[in-house]
Amino acid sequence: MHKARKEIKKRLPKIDLIIEVMDARIPYSSENPLVSQFRQNKPCIKLLNKSDLADPLITQKWLDYLEQDAQTKALSVTASQEATIKSLPRAIKSFLPERTKAEKPLRAMIMGIPNVGKSTIINILAGRVIAKVGNEPAVTKRQQEIYLDNNIILSDTPGILWPRIENKNSGYRLAATGAIKDTAMEYEDVALYIIEYLLSAYADRLSTRYKYNDLPTTAEQALEEIGKRRGCLRAGGIVDTYKAADILLNDLRSGALGKLSFETPEMIKSEEQEIRAS
Ligand code: G4P
Repeated sequence: MHKARKEIKKRLPKIDLIIEVMDARIPYSSENPLVSQFRQNKPCIKLLNKSDLADPLITQKWLDYLEQDAQTKALSVTASQEATIKSLPRAIKSFLPERTKAEKPLRAMIMGIPNVGKSTIINILAGRVIAKVGNEPAVTKRQQEIYLDNNIILSDTPGILWPRIENKNSGYRLAATGAIKDTAMEYEDVALYIIEYLLSAYADRLSTRYKYNDLPTTAEQALEEIGKRRGCLRAGGIVDTYKAADILLNDLRSGALGKLSFETPEMIKSEEQEIRAS
């Protein structure tokens, strides 16, 4: 992080536009705090990627919320819909028409914490594989420069950017979506955190997927029931909650529970108030 901070600071004066890739399911938690710190007044395009997995109504709320900043344009994208990603130079041109007309190329830097899909997006824009796509966060990549249409040069971020850590809810959400390695947090804790949220926001999805007769009243009960229904039993009929958590998190990440978002602008406002008050 320290190295990335130094490198970004060094290169930022030559950058005209920042493109930040975020996970549409957790736009706040997958945002890198360095971006707002370094951005000053530079225009920024926020790409809410993996929108195929996110709740479309909540994604729209985030787009509206992020665009309250006049220097920000927010777009919802999905790596499988390459055409939307390939239209990025057009979006930049309409966002900054004067700048793209200038003789000097517009320099954009693409940023994003690991696993938001930054490499996938770079490869689509480049039309070839130049960045390694992988499920292990923190894969080190070479610095890249790509020439795009409309007189735009895109460069990758030097170094790895880490997500926010001051909000403990963000840690759980990042772990649930796979941005933080599974070994970094207790698996069952992450599953329980997410089930508690799903019980309040998407109870119908849980009921449909796990065929609860009556909706469980606690997250612990809900996880136990998943274990029982999926045969995750140890000797003596005790539920293996690790295996049950694994089933839940896999269902969540693969989209088997439907399109879900784990934070809304309203939730974040109250969480930030709590952090400030503590
Ligand atoms: P990064 O550079 O930001 O670290 O992310 P990267 O492109 O490596 O993507 C991380 C994972 O997210 C990859 O899956 C990639 O296929 C997946 N991904 C990227 N964009 C989207 C999207 O819009 N929707 C969905 N559903 N998934 C997306 P992986 O399983 O780690 O690798 P692979 O098996 O697909 O190669």
